[in-house]
Amino acid sequence: MIVKDVNQEREQWGSKVGFILAAAGSAVGLGNLWKFPYVAGKNGGGAFVLVYFIILFLVGFTLMLAEIALGRHTQLNAIGAYRKLREKWAFVGGLGVLAAFMLLSFYSVVGGWVINYVIKSVTGGLNVSDPEVLGNMFGEFVANRWTPIIYHAIFMLLTLLIVLGGVGGGIEKASKIMMPALFGFIILLAVRAVTLPGGIEGVKYLLVPDFSKINMEVILSALGQVFFSLSLGMGCMITYGSYLGKDTNIPESAVIIPLCDTAIALLAGLAVLPAVFAFGFEPAAGPGLIFVTLPAVFSQMPLGNLFAIMFFILVLFAALTSSISLLEVCVAYVVDEWGWNRKLTTWTLAGLIFAIGVPASLSMGPWADIHLLGDRGFFDTYDYIVSNWLLPLGGLLLCIFVGWIWGTDAAIKEVTNNGTLEFKLRGLWVFLIKYVGPVAILVVFVRSLT
Ligand code: PHE
Repeated sequence: MIVKDVNQEREQWGSKVGFILAAAGSAVGLGNLWKFPYVAGKNGGGAFVLVYFIILFLVGFTLMLAEIALGRHTQLNAIGAYRKLREKWAFVGGLGVLAAFMLLSFYSVVGGWVINYVIKSVTGGLNVSDPEVLGNMFGEFVANRWTPIIYHAIFMLLTLLIVLGGVGGGIEKASKIMMPALFGFIILLAVRAVTLPGGIEGVKYLLVPDFSKINMEVILSALGQVFFSLSLGMGCMITYGSYLGKDTNIPESAVIIPLCDTAIALLAGLAVLPAVFAFGFEPAAGPGLIFVTLPAVFSQMPLGNLFAIMFFILVLFAALTSSISLLEVCVAYVVDEWGWNRKLTTWTLAGLIFAIGVPASLSMGPWADIHLLGDRGFFDTYDYIVSNWLLPLGGLLLCIFVGWIWGTDAAIKEVTNNGTLEFKLRGLWVFLIKYVGPVAILVVFVRSLT
């Protein structure tokens, strides 16, 4: 039986907190943990954080509100939401589903690496203080033909098992366990790092403003970071918003979710940078930071093994709460629009996404010489298409759609629960979604292509 019972009610979040935790879980991910600390430190510390906050408010909050409103209003997946309001705009939702599909395929490869490092930290395999040795260990691991694919499969399987449980029983329940744990771990790690002798240098790197470093490029990278970090532009928040009841306070959620995300990003900075500086390392970008530099740091810290385990579990939780939102975007589409049942849909999509991710994994080693776009292999090509094309395009079209096509009056009606809720920032929000959002995103988009 693959045809859905049409009388079946759409599932809803069990509670307001459940929704916030799930949405914040989608937002908090690898972007917060391995990108934010490094990008912030490099680009002027506190000055970058300030710019980030301004953009968070101007664009992050604005688009978050728009996506959630679109989802709750239509009670549909990303494609269905656009289609229900304007048939011709369904393709924008399509870009989102495609983006989620592609992003998950390589996000899961990295998720697999994280699982491997959880195991390594538990079995003592990371008790190495020489970053060169750790670098080689990481390099050899990802370049392996089969091992990373097996871990990629395990990560996909975990994602699938949660999504199979449904919205309330799967996603919400998992988020309610993983998010508080993640929060607790990151606070412990931050306190430990900041109190290390010499740790203060890392705090300074992150927070002391150097305004001379702020230029157009830095502002653009802050915008890109806000976008990715808040899971905007690919219909995640439309999908999660579609499971909301009509009585929730959307403006409040659209403020709380970005604040949670930023709090975790800042805490990640405080957990990572002081530790890196205290042991005389240089903060590296991306995977190098969490898979090479940090294990070296932990191995020299008292009780370092414990902190390493805690750290990799927290990274895993962050990655999983994001990956389930990506899978849900795709699942919701197929269930809503094609009428498939949830179980079959979830297994099929997870299988396809896994398969698409295999070349991304292989491109780290055996297929390193295969180039698709320019000198990019599979992994980098997926990343490039999603981050430089699909996300900005999805965000831009979202602004235009909500600001000009569906219209801000209709959106505000939804956001204020038919005028019964106060929405103090409405005038500002209208201006932001109609003008500031589209222009800002357009500038980033054009820049990233040149
Ligand atoms: N926000 C997630 C992160 O920071 C990534 C993500 C993007 C997840 C878009 C879902 C949708 O890692």
